[in-house]
Amino acid sequence: MAEFTRPRGKRQEDSGLGNVLDLLLANARLVLGVTGAAVLAIATLAVKRLIDRATSPRDEGDPKAEQKTLEESWQDLALIKATPKPPKKQRREDLSEPLLSPALPLVPETPQVESSSPCCLTLQEKLLSYYSSRLTVPETQASVSLQLARSICTQLQNFLRSKCPELPFGSLFLSGPLLDGLGALAADHIHLMLPVVLDATLWSLIPGEDTVVRNPQYWLIKRTDLEYFPRGRSPWDRFIVGRYLSSNMLNETLHKMLVASINWPAIGSLLGSVIHPVVASQELKLEVKYDQIKLSITLFPVVEMEDKVLLAAPPEGLVENLWLESFYRAEVSKVKELDAGDSGARQRCLCILNSICKSHPALHKLSGSPLTHVVLHLSATSLDWAEESLADMFQQLLEELVGYLEKGVLPSYFNPKINLFCDLLEEEIDEMGFMLYRAISEPELLLKEK
Ligand SMILES: *[C@@H]1O[C@H](CO)[C@@H](O)[C@H](O)[C@H]1NC(C)=O
Repeated sequence: MAEFTRPRGKRQEDSGLGNVLDLLLANARLVLGVTGAAVLAIATLAVKRLIDRATSPRDEGDPKAEQKTLEESWQDLALIKATPKPPKKQRREDLSEPLLSPALPLVPETPQVESSSPCCLTLQEKLLSYYSSRLTVPETQASVSLQLARSICTQLQNFLRSKCPELPFGSLFLSGPLLDGLGALAADHIHLMLPVVLDATLWSLIPGEDTVVRNPQYWLIKRTDLEYFPRGRSPWDRFIVGRYLSSNMLNETLHKMLVASINWPAIGSLLGSVIHPVVASQELKLEVKYDQIKLSITLFPVVEMEDKVLLAAPPEGLVENLWLESFYRAEVSKVKELDAGDSGARQRCLCILNSICKSHPALHKLSGSPLTHVVLHLSATSLDWAEESLADMFQQLLEELVGYLEKGVLPSYFNPKINLFCDLLEEEIDEMGFMLYRAISEPELLLKEK
């Protein structure tokens, strides 16, 4: 038994490492044309790091030492980035020239995937073609999706008014990429915001920073003056846990309602569609089918207080009852305001990058807010956002992103204390950094990935 399992296990391990080496050498090969030997050094470092990671248990050895290697390798990347880039035309030929020393075990060149798009297109043209071919949702599909979402919104509002008239929910409204035009323009996902209207004299906000969670992204909503206005005074008092308005309890109540109380089959047939609540989801989610259209609708309870927008989207496994501050509305309006001010193409650029990241397995966590904040930061220093500069803009955004990934910190545009990368793992940051670093010299890599 052992004789069979052992060698097999070993072989698997070998080929696993082999794959890693192949991948990294292929990466080195891709960028080698640009910056030669220095990049090879990075690749070697990265190989060493990955082998270390693959062969030694995670918590063995000095974590600080590993951190250092990681830091150093990023610093090296930064050095290379600073070296001037040769004109693009030259680059492609560079790639096919055997610049590697013959002693190096070269992986066979993967066939160039150029054939799909003619090589004579500029990056600007490729971006625009990507935008028009992938990103524009057929108008009818978009309007049908919105119509459906609006009808479901009305039904849900009616249900809440009749079943829990004592709870002052505000008017539900739709939100998300289809409405703001910043995200991947897919008509497949819509947010449904459910305002929870609080009496400002009975509730106040406590910054998450000042609590045990020490996280500036979150807030607690505290019930005040319980001595003068005892429990029951606020209609939301039944959701209090230890003096705080519990996002978890509200979520659970709504989840129960969505899954068990609302007659979705009846509403579905009324709207000529099939509606299912997603029972096992962390989020309050509905799946809707209408003809060929599949739509996913997520419900977000939202509190607006003291100029803040807070979502009942507590972090996993942490302290309960937290509310996540959302800058979504501010992000969207700031980008639109900037574009309106200089006829900029930030929104288009964001659309493209969002769509790329959303559909890319290594990059999907960057789509949405993080990208918007990078654009906003860059807007403070970079002035030319005109449509004709789309390609430059795109490349500059990639470079900025790599810079933030190097540091592992992307400060929120609206509150620099918030690090928008704080939920990412070191490995994820590493992988994104490497992927995007390659894309700086070869942006087409991103446009090809599905
Ligand atoms: C919301 O409540 C449901 C049902 O209890 C649970 O499965 C889900 O994980 C909760 N979501 C959050 C974000 O806590």
